[in-house]
Amino acid sequence: MLAYRHAFHAGNHADVLKHVVLVHVLRWMAQKDKAFTLVDTHAGAGGYALASGYAQKKGEYHGGIEPLWGAADLPPPLADYVALVRAFNGGGALAQYPGSPAFAQMLLRPGDRLRLFELHPTDHRIVAAYLGERAHTAVAMADGFAALAKELPPPSRRGVVLIDPSYELKTDYARVVAALREALQRFATGTVLVWHPQVQLVEAAQLPRRLKAAAKDAPKGWLHATLHVAPPQPGGFGMTGSGMFVVNPPHTLHAALAQALPVLAQRLGQYDGARFELEQAGG
Ligand SMILES: C[S@@+](CC[C@H](N)C(=O)[O-])C[C@H]1O[C@@H](n2cnc3c(N)ncnc32)[C@H](O)[C@@H]1O
Repeated sequence: MLAYRHAFHAGNHADVLKHVVLVHVLRWMAQKDKAFTLVDTHAGAGGYALASGYAQKKGEYHGGIEPLWGAADLPPPLADYVALVRAFNGGGALAQYPGSPAFAQMLLRPGDRLRLFELHPTDHRIVAAYLGERAHTAVAMADGFAALAKELPPPSRRGVVLIDPSYELKTDYARVVAALREALQRFATGTVLVWHPQVQLVEAAQLPRRLKAAAKDAPKGWLHATLHVAPPQPGGFGMTGSGMFVVNPPHTLHAALAQALPVLAQRLGQYDGARFELEQAGG
């Protein structure tokens, strides 16, 4: 049984980066009339109560959504993301944080397809109760890496894949690369988003290079955004930042992140070494 529960981390700096990118990509997909599919291979619970014991234990949202919540001067990509978090809170105080399925619920049109995979029985039960009744939606308690191939290509040939593992198992690093390769083999034009942590592990350090190699022939190339916020803790433990690797990105994503990332590094950075990187290739 996996021990990871995303509720401990909901709304942290890594969720902010991941969901700012996801929101931009889903809005871009929704600009064309033709329906699309979102496959979320590691869905989590769908939404999280920030007052819960889980979220309060580490209080990670204090270094993520919270500093952005009250800011009136955010650039458009961040203002849009915060507005969706506000909508998820019904316009009230910051009490809930939306997971990727909740952002999908807010941004997919009624005809768009949603495929969610979550292995943890409790989180699967919660996300299935939340979204299982939505039209064109399937929520499975299954291994999202193994299930991905069967979902591709999507029927309309328009699709987004979010691969957002916990990396609790070191094998996740290799499985992410294999999943990306397989996704592109089956659906070369699909937009694939891979979240990855910055931690002191050789597998984590090598992952961006391996993702770039896997995506080298993608028709629209790739984009890689990283946000580094904290120094390593004594002993080298802890997540110091994270990255989003996007294959076949929207042509608008680079400009949006060029606006968002400096503000994120400044507002969420925990020390003078906080910084971002934004790279794009191909396409
Ligand atoms: C980082 S969280 C997902 C967060 C979610 N995508 C979001 O943005 O709100 C990773 C989730 O993957 C689940 N998980 C771990 N291994 C899995 C696998 N092989 N297939 C599907 N889910 C898995 C964990 O239980 C956890 O809920």
